[in-house]
Amino acid sequence: MQQKVSKIGVLTSGGDAPGMNAAVRAVVRTGIYYGLEVFGIMRGYTGTIENDIVPMHSRSVANIIQRGGTILKTARCKDFYEYEGRAKAYANLKKIGINGLIIIGGDGSFRGAHTFASEFGMPCIGLPGTIDKDIAGTDFTIGFDTAVNTAIDAIDKIRDTADAHDRLFIIEVMGRDSGYIALHSGIATGAESILIPERKTDIEELVGSLQEKEKRKKLVNLVIVAEGDNFGGAEEVAKVVKERLPNVDTRVCILGHIQRGGSPSCLDRLIASRMGYSAVECLLEGRFNVMVGIVNNRMHYTPLEKAVKAKQKIGDDWLKIIKILAS
Ligand code: F6P
Repeated sequence: MQQKVSKIGVLTSGGDAPGMNAAVRAVVRTGIYYGLEVFGIMRGYTGTIENDIVPMHSRSVANIIQRGGTILKTARCKDFYEYEGRAKAYANLKKIGINGLIIIGGDGSFRGAHTFASEFGMPCIGLPGTIDKDIAGTDFTIGFDTAVNTAIDAIDKIRDTADAHDRLFIIEVMGRDSGYIALHSGIATGAESILIPERKTDIEELVGSLQEKEKRKKLVNLVIVAEGDNFGGAEEVAKVVKERLPNVDTRVCILGHIQRGGSPSCLDRLIASRMGYSAVECLLEGRFNVMVGIVNNRMHYTPLEKAVKAKQKIGDDWLKIIKILAS
C-alpha cells in the first residue's frame, strides 16, 4: 500500500526565478490547510545533505509573494549527483519523517528528483521554476514572464538611444541552452534578427541582411543574441559585424542577471500559486513523481522521467515572423 504523506519538504534549486517565493508560499499554506507539517529546505539539495531544514508556518511565508529571489535560497548541488550525497540526504529527511518532497527548479533539478525517487522511494513533485522556459509539459515556467518583461523594458530603453544615434545594438539576453527569452523579447521589441542556441547561427545571413538595411538607410537595428548561441554570444557576433560593416555604428549590451531578479509579474505569481497548491494535492492524492505544469490553462502532470528528457521545441514559424515583421 502507498504510504500516506504527512510531513513534506519544499526546496528551490538551480537558477532562481521570480515567482519561486510565491510557489513556496502556496506549498506551505496549502500543506498547513490540509493538516501537513511543512519544512523548508535551504539552498536546494544542499540543505538535504547538510540537514539545513527548518519548520515552516503560515507566517514564515508572509510578505514574500511579491519578492524575487527565493527565501529558501538556491544552489546547484554537485554532491547530490553522487549516490553517497543522495543517501545522506535521504537519511536526514527520514530522521525528521519527511515523506514527500516538492522541488521547484529546472530540468537539472528534476533529474536529481527522479533519481532520488527511484533510489529511495521518496515521493517527489517537480514545479517548473526557470526563466529559460525550456521544459516540456507546461505552457509556462515560473519566472519566464517576469524575465522576458525585464528584458523588453531594457531593450525598449536601448532602442531610444539607438534611435537617437542611428546605431545598431547587439543585445545579449540570458539562455545558455534556450532561446525563448531571445525569441519573445525580440518579437516584442521589433528586433531585426534573433540568434538562439536551437539554430546554428548563420553569420553570413546576418551580415547580408544588415548590409541590405544599410543600403536602404535603415540605420536603427536591434539584434538579440541568446547567451548560448553557437557563435559565442553578442561580443563574438559584434566582432564580425564591426569588421564587415565598418560604417555602421555598432554597440553591444549584455543584459545579464538583471533578468533573473525583480518582483514577479502577475502571471508568474498566479501560475506559481496554482502549481504550488496543485503539488500538495498531488502528494495527498498519491500522484507521485510528476512535474506539475499548466497546459491550455489546466493543470497538467508529466511523469518526472519524461519531464527530464523532453524539451520545448521552437518552430520555424517563429523565426519567419521575425524576418517578416523586421523589414
Ligand atoms: O537557468 C537560468 C539561467 O539564468 C540561464 O539562462 C543562464 O545561462 C544561467 O542560468 C546562468 O547561471 P549562473 O547564474 O549560475 O551563472
